[in-house]
Amino acid sequence: MYGLVNKAIKDLVTEKFGEDKWEVICDLSDFDEGDFVAMDSYPDELTYTLVKNASIVLKADASVVLDAFGEYWILYTADEGYNDLMNITGSNFVDFLENLDMLHYRMNNIMPHLQAPKFQVRNKAENSLELIYTSHRKGLTPMLFGLVRGLGKRFNIETTMVEIDRGDLPEDSHVFLVKW
Ligand code: HEM
Repeated sequence: MYGLVNKAIKDLVTEKFGEDKWEVICDLSDFDEGDFVAMDSYPDELTYTLVKNASIVLKADASVVLDAFGEYWILYTADEGYNDLMNITGSNFVDFLENLDMLHYRMNNIMPHLQAPKFQVRNKAENSLELIYTSHRKGLTPMLFGLVRGLGKRFNIETTMVEIDRGDLPEDSHVFLVKW
């Protein structure tokens, strides 16, 4: 994944738990470059290793780390210069979710190796919808919970989300019922 993702993990850990913890995580992960280049692409394995070791060092389940990371990502990307992109992605929660592919498509223009996830919204109702998330990457669904919660906060709404049966969809798809 692009260095921007790893940089955000680093920022989250150092901001909330201190530099020392981050250094231990880097040691355990055999990462000695100090920092990441936001616009360089790194092996996915490195991101998974950083999350695994963060969970060991911070004594939290990997799913808790990924969830916290998801929520942090919404604030982090806005801070890192992508707030305009977020503004044009949607002026409300539902529009934003419907335009997630467009957001990543735009990122693809500046990050040619981006392997973005795919999203689809269905069964929209007044205060709920179903979000379909599709990715070749495994194990990242806990991040989705944090991302959607963080996005709700951006629009001043409180959301709840559960994963529901994927039905006939392929195995790399996950379906969530989102309510607010
Ligand atoms: C301006 C805001 C955003 C930017 C700049 C951005 C950019 C990125 C980048 C660079 C990656 C790494 C993928 C790669 O390197 O191949 C990524 C992954 C991801 N993004 Fe976004 N993103 C943004 C917002 C969102 C939002 C709001 C969501 C969902 C609500 C989302 C869902 C994901 C997920 C789940 C991944 C993990 C990769 C995967 O599942 O395969 N992103 N995004």
